Amino acid sequence: MSETESSGTSLLLGVNIDHVATLRQARYSTMLDNHNVEPDIVMAARAAVEGGADSITMHPRADGRHVQLSDVEAVRREVEIPLNMEMGNTPEMVEASLRIQPEFVCLVPETREEITTEGGLDVVANEAALRVSLPQFRAAGIKVSLFIDPVDEQVRMAADLGAEMIELHTGAFANQQGEQREAETQRLIAAAELGHSLGLQVNAGHGINYDNLDELFAVPHLVELNIGHTLVSRAVFVGLAEAVREMRELMNDYPQTK
Ligand code: PXP
Repeated sequence: MSETESSGTSLLLGVNIDHVATLRQARYSTMLDNHNVEPDIVMAARAAVEGGADSITMHPRADGRHVQLSDVEAVRREVEIPLNMEMGNTPEMVEASLRIQPEFVCLVPETREEITTEGGLDVVANEAALRVSLPQFRAAGIKVSLFIDPVDEQVRMAADLGAEMIELHTGAFANQQGEQREAETQRLIAAAELGHSLGLQVNAGHGINYDNLDELFAVPHLVELNIGHTLVSRAVFVGLAEAVREMRELMNDYPQTK
């Protein structure tokens, strides 16, 4: 099979439903047990499944700005498809994830000090802390993804740490246009090739939308995209299931690489 020939499996879509909770929190953050609370997070996860989501992504943040740990627990309980818990590598979140048992965790920066220049988790600077938590996930059967910038030393360290996956930060790609977008695309291509050659599953996320998706298709070896904001934005007009369906449809055009 040639490099670009279809291998029969399509690009997976992880639907991030955090911003459904952003809407809820805007009104009800101080009265989450009120009888009027909406929108319902489990209903959102079910709508994403209906639209063809392959996994549900949720990021309970220390500041509680959108989904709460109780939301993650409810989705874990009531929704069948794999759960990807995005989280800071803090003792509290590690403990919560070991209790909730998502299929995957994606470790992201929570504080300024953990962030690389562009915004991924600086796995080089955080090596020591990651060497403490990664074995805990491994022992619990939870796969680990590291959300990193498309930078050689970050990719190499992710492999060295024994993570199963990297999620390449596509924020810089999404925020640029023209030649700078092309330069960011080249960085993503190089990082994806390196990650794949080191045996890592390569995912991507942040700022991906209906318009820039096809340019991202230049990046080889992608297995899963994590997308949130654009889906929830589109859902305002067409509903979440339809918004996910439309994205899935576009993702079918990804040229599969082995
Ligand atoms: N991946 C990670 C690690 C994220 O933190 C986020 C949310 O910022 C996303 C993907 C989804 O990004 P967006 O909401 O821009 O689609």
